[in-house]
Amino acid sequence: MSPIVVVLNGPNLNLLGKREPEIYGRETLADVEADCRRVGGELGLSIEFHQSNREYEIIDWIHSARERAAGIVINPAAFTHTSVAILDALNAFEGPIIEVHISNVHKREPFRHHSYVSGVASGVIVGCGMQGYTLALHRIAKLIGAPKQ
Ligand code: DQA
Repeated sequence: MSPIVVVLNGPNLNLLGKREPEIYGRETLADVEADCRRVGGELGLSIEFHQSNREYEIIDWIHSARERAAGIVINPAAFTHTSVAILDALNAFEGPIIEVHISNVHKREPFRHHSYVSGVASGVIVGCGMQGYTLALHRIAKLIGAPKQ
């Protein structure tokens, strides 16, 4: 069975393509999911893809990844900058975690410069647009030694 990678998306990312396209681009979350599934297939990974505007759902998906998934790719969106609860949940996950931000948060408002999640992430991909997600999958495949690369 292919190793599972859980791709998690935080609040407002359901509006990708419509929301501030000058910052986040014109691709939708469905486009991101399709890219992740295509690249995941090429890398021999089984992709589980979720988005929620509710912090507890993201925490529950992280818990459900424990002892089951090989890695997590997470764009916590605004929860990046606020959520100790998501940090604590990720601290209880054994495998590699790659944090992704579509925009370059370091070029934006100062409140976006701090991430609670970066303290637990194996790697952080910032400002590479939607491509950040598939770059993160490549990194996870490398870290877990997935069969096809
Ligand atoms: C984001 C950056 C966050 O600061 C913001 O709240 C988001 C999206 C990004 O992908 O660039 O919602 O995580």
